[in-house]
Amino acid sequence: MQVSAFLATSLDGFIARPNGDLDWLERANGLLPEGEDCGYARFFASVDCLVMGRKTFEKVLSFAQWPYAQKPVVVLSRAGIEIPQHLRDTVSCSSDSPKQLCAGFAASGMKRIYLDGGQTIRTFLAAGLLNDITITRIPVLIHRGIPLFDTTLEASGSTASDVWFEMVESRFWPFGFTQEVWKTKQR
Ligand SMILES: NC(=O)c1ccc[n+]([C@@H]2O[C@H](COP(=O)([O-])OP(=O)(O)OC[C@H]3O[C@@H](n4cnc5c(N)ncnc54)[C@H](OP(=O)(O)O)[C@@H]3O)[C@@H](O)[C@H]2O)c1
Repeated sequence: MQVSAFLATSLDGFIARPNGDLDWLERANGLLPEGEDCGYARFFASVDCLVMGRKTFEKVLSFAQWPYAQKPVVVLSRAGIEIPQHLRDTVSCSSDSPKQLCAGFAASGMKRIYLDGGQTIRTFLAAGLLNDITITRIPVLIHRGIPLFDTTLEASGSTASDVWFEMVESRFWPFGFTQEVWKTKQR
């Protein structure tokens, strides 16, 4: 089973402003030519299930439309979440470890999982359970925000061991976005 992430970051490595705002990303998406989605639809079609952090779930709930159709979504939260009535068929909540989650997905025949949310991705990385990550870099510095990777000196020891990657794809577009697909290497 493959665990994959697909995100956009600012040039300085943030996935959202400190309050979770994605206005810079929405503005950037306005630069895309008609029909261009930087590979998102193809990626989305290749996954069986999404696993996202509670904070990403709350952000997505604020969108005008639920973007994941009937695909199953597991929201990670230790405290639990309120699932709106119209999403109860597809959304569930879990506080299982990455290892337990992956064992369950594999047992139910799932082949590819879409992981979303910075903290959530770091948890899977620390457990050695992220296989690949697609990062679309938006040409803007937003200076402060929620990081994809925690690079502060205070970062917890959980990700202390080095994680090596190999780049398997790299693209750039005339509207200024670049995209890299990275696979984690066995430790
Ligand atoms: N730019 C992009 O492409 C992109 C993509 C995704 C998200 N985002 C943005 O990123 C922000 C959210 O990212 P984030 O890093 O702050 O948080 P996140 O990963 O979405 O959510 C963190 C929360 O998930 C739960 N969680 C994470 N790992 C867990 C585990 N192993 N077991 C149980 N619960 C776990 C915890 O919830 P509890 O506190 O409830 O226990 C934790 O507080 C949002 O603003 C979102 O819009 C941007």
